[in-house]
Amino acid sequence: MGRLNITEKNTKALVTFQNVSKSFGATKALIDCNVDFKKGEIHSLVGENGAGKSTLGKIILGAYKLDSGKTYVDGEEVSINSPGQAVKIGLVGISQELSLLSSRTVVDNIAMGREITSGMFVSAKKTKEKVLSVMKHFNLFVNPDAIVGSLSVAEQQKVEILRALNSNARLIVFDEPTARLASNETEQLHSLVKSLANNGTTIVYISHFLDEVLTISNRVTLLRNGKLIRTNLAKEETKKSLIEGMTGKEEGNLFPSIKLINESSETVLKVENLTRKNEYQNISFEIKKGEIVGLAGLVGSGRSELAHTIFGDKKPDNGAISFCGKKITQSKVSNSINLGMAMVPESRRTQGLFLARSLIENISLPYLGKFLSIYGLDKKQERNTVNEICNKTTVKHSGIDFEVQYLSGGNQQKILFARAAMGKPKLLIADEPTRGVDIGAKKSIYELIAKLSDVGESVLLVSSEIEEIIGMSNRVLVMSRGRLSAQLIGTDINKKTIMEAAFKYN
Ligand SMILES: Nc1ncnc2c1ncn2[C@@H]1O[C@H](COP(=O)(O)OP(=O)(O)OP(=O)(O)O)[C@@H](O)[C@H]1O
Ligand SMILES: [Mg+2]
Repeated sequence: MGRLNITEKNTKALVTFQNVSKSFGATKALIDCNVDFKKGEIHSLVGENGAGKSTLGKIILGAYKLDSGKTYVDGEEVSINSPGQAVKIGLVGISQELSLLSSRTVVDNIAMGREITSGMFVSAKKTKEKVLSVMKHFNLFVNPDAIVGSLSVAEQQKVEILRALNSNARLIVFDEPTARLASNETEQLHSLVKSLANNGTTIVYISHFLDEVLTISNRVTLLRNGKLIRTNLAKEETKKSLIEGMTGKEEGNLFPSIKLINESSETVLKVENLTRKNEYQNISFEIKKGEIVGLAGLVGSGRSELAHTIFGDKKPDNGAISFCGKKITQSKVSNSINLGMAMVPESRRTQGLFLARSLIENISLPYLGKFLSIYGLDKKQERNTVNEICNKTTVKHSGIDFEVQYLSGGNQQKILFARAAMGKPKLLIADEPTRGVDIGAKKSIYELIAKLSDVGESVLLVSSEIEEIIGMSNRVLVMSRGRLSAQLIGTDINKKTIMEAAFKYN
């Protein structure tokens, strides 16, 4: 990624925090932090999962109250006690789990709470005109009459940004905005963010993608375990220096060594001419015992759909799947789990977790059978096993009885992995298993995958991160527009071959 010519903004601070602390029970989310956000700067927050990034973002937005410390806006001391008050000051957030009314139109969502009235009544016409003028002013367009629920994630994110702009935002907090975007959408967001900053809006940007942080930011603040390590000009940092600052350790090798697979090993999964109309066609491949197979391709190439079909979550229109020598005749998740498959789904919010339930429930629920004996459920063994698996997957938590919703985003992702690993599956299907997790946790997830392969368990790794695919796979499958465009092994696996195959039918 090319580095832009971004330097320090010589502007005054819009928001300043002095000696700010915030705890949740025994968890110290922020400890005595000093930081300021200047007018018109792009200021990134980086740190491992649970470091305190989102907490700081939410404090700016009035969603959390400080335990101690002072807040200044335009040099004057204020206390921001509610999101409503923050919005009045011009401090607005774009959340990762978008907070839109999906059954309403784009105009309704953008103008929500700011409708223009004519006499006593809301004027739909004037409200729409105002929204259109904001779109025009910022050169950011979404079909004003579209129903929000029918839009792509990227378009919905634009609606949230327009809503912020319509409320005259002076500072916008973006919390992991690109985690769910395709690469061209990410670039669009970057240029939008840069143009907003050029027009004087302050941007607080939270991201685990260090390349993007270095590319777009003026300054970066590093957090580690609630402590602010340093705030520095982005041009004075490198990926290496950021990782060292975030983890407190030298970088080391991210990927473990992957053992070679013998050509004569038994076949665990065999997929023949698998087809789901409009999603993917005639897919055939095999996975051997202990093999790690990477499944690459652009967003929308049919990767996730294929993975879900193998797991029994979707029914194929045509073709066959055999697992451990037996043909699968029934597409059913419970069936697949019984046969020895497990899946780490892509979206933790919508597919994976019971947010209002505890860690232990989320992790062990599908596998309670393991702890059953004639004496009933062995709770002690269940707890020990869950604690052990949380340690292995480096879940940072304050007890396995706490609700999953209070974990940081990346730690929620790790819970999904912990659950899948619990079942000791013969085949683990991992769909973007490291999305949103920090570099330390990534490393431990990679080590876990390598360990699974060491004991003869196979892995299908679906990922948009080419480095991850290259670093982890014995073999790589690439999909393009619903077709298998390449199968690569050994030295044929590299960035160029994968990218070429990914764009083959585009
Ligand atoms: N509402 C809450 N209740 C209890 N604990 C919380 C709450 N919000 C955050 N925490 C805890 O505070 C710490 C910091 O969390 P925060 O969400 O700020 O991390 P983060 O840096 O955004 O991590 P991630 O990269 O995983 O999103 C974590 O240990 C988290 O579990
Ligand atoms: Mg967070």
